[in-house]
Amino acid sequence: MALLCLIDIIFVPMEISMKSKHLVATTVTLAATLLSLSGLTHAAGDPKVKSAMARSDCFTCHSVDHQVIGPAYKEVAAHYHGAQASAATVNTLAEKIIKGGNGNWNKETGGAPMTAHPKLSKADAEAMARWVLAQ
Ligand code: HEC
Repeated sequence: MALLCLIDIIFVPMEISMKSKHLVATTVTLAATLLSLSGLTHAAGDPKVKSAMARSDCFTCHSVDHQVIGPAYKEVAAHYHGAQASAATVNTLAEKIIKGGNGNWNKETGGAPMTAHPKLSKADAEAMARWVLAQ
């Protein structure tokens, strides 16, 4: 249903503006913006960081949208105000990724700890924290 509406939004104005190249270009730009806003064309977050997380063990315990052993990344993002999270929050999450631990999600996890990732650099852990916050 939502997709049908989206198709209407995109194609109806295109038909109306067929005679004007400028209008068509504007409409195509608008359609591309709508598509990217709707999340149909790309997943949130830097794909290179996601690959690094997949090479590590993050997705053994986490999924983007449901709890596994650790909380869903969408829950983590919502809890820390997503992309609006402060630099201090990114820093704290990066420390947690490197050092591991539990306490913040015991209600969801039953107290399971996150393992430490001492080989990750601070910069990599911060990039991963930002990727999680972008979900
Ligand atoms: C062994 C399972 C496990 C692995 C592997 C794991 N996590 Fe976690 N993660 C958890 C658990 C459990 C929690 C909840 C910790 C708590 O209650 O504070 C958690 C919490 C988090 C949080 C939220 C921290 C907080 O204090 O709110 C982030 C961010 C996170 N993980 C990212 C990652 C990343 C990135 C990786 C890969 C480098 C990773 N996790 C690997 C189990 C895991």
